[in-house]
Amino acid sequence: MTPQVAIRPCRVEECEAVLALWRRAGAIPSVTDTLEELTRLVRSEHGNGFLVAVRDGVVVGSVIGGWDGWRGGIYRLAVDPQARRRGIAKALVRAAESVLWRRGARRMSVLVERHEAHAVAFWDSLAEAGYQRDPRMMRYVKALGGDRS
Ligand SMILES: CC(C)(COP(=O)(O)OP(=O)(O)OC[C@H]1O[C@@H](n2cnc3c(N)ncnc32)[C@H](O)[C@@H]1OP(=O)(O)O)[C@@H](O)C(=O)NCCC(=O)NCCS
Repeated sequence: MTPQVAIRPCRVEECEAVLALWRRAGAIPSVTDTLEELTRLVRSEHGNGFLVAVRDGVVVGSVIGGWDGWRGGIYRLAVDPQARRRGIAKALVRAAESVLWRRGARRMSVLVERHEAHAVAFWDSLAEAGYQRDPRMMRYVKALGGDRS
């Protein structure tokens, strides 16, 4: 990775920049891509899993390492198009794993949009680091709020 890139927990004042990064990076939009939700996460007990990669004071990468008490998960991995193929995403994943390991995670789970070629290529590149495709699984999703029936 480029030596002048620092990886550390996101600060409240950087949440706006993270949202802009996700738009620049072409991350698939989500209903939780709001300043309110990001600020809540940063301030929560899970805030130390929300990491940014910063170069010259600019947020060029992000990852959310989630911990539900059972599995570690990787969310919102994104790198600025201008900063790609320099190992930043790999370093973000390693850093998130370290945080999650310290919290008690012993297995990781990552959901990847199968048509996103660079995302699939990235995760396939981590096969030797232990990330294997799991063809047995399907994903069910529901947005909470409104009608919960
Ligand atoms: C996927 C993404 C995070 C990768 O970020 P990155 O910093 O460029 O990734 P790295 O430099 O750490 O790549 C590590 C390895 O992954 C593979 N890889 C990464 N991007 C690739 C691409 N576009 N095509 C082919 N292989 C790729 C390569 O093997 C690469 O090693 P190499 O550069 O030595 O060949 C970035 O492209 C991105 O933000 N995409 C949009 C958002 C997204 O899809 N996020 C993932 C959600 S699961």
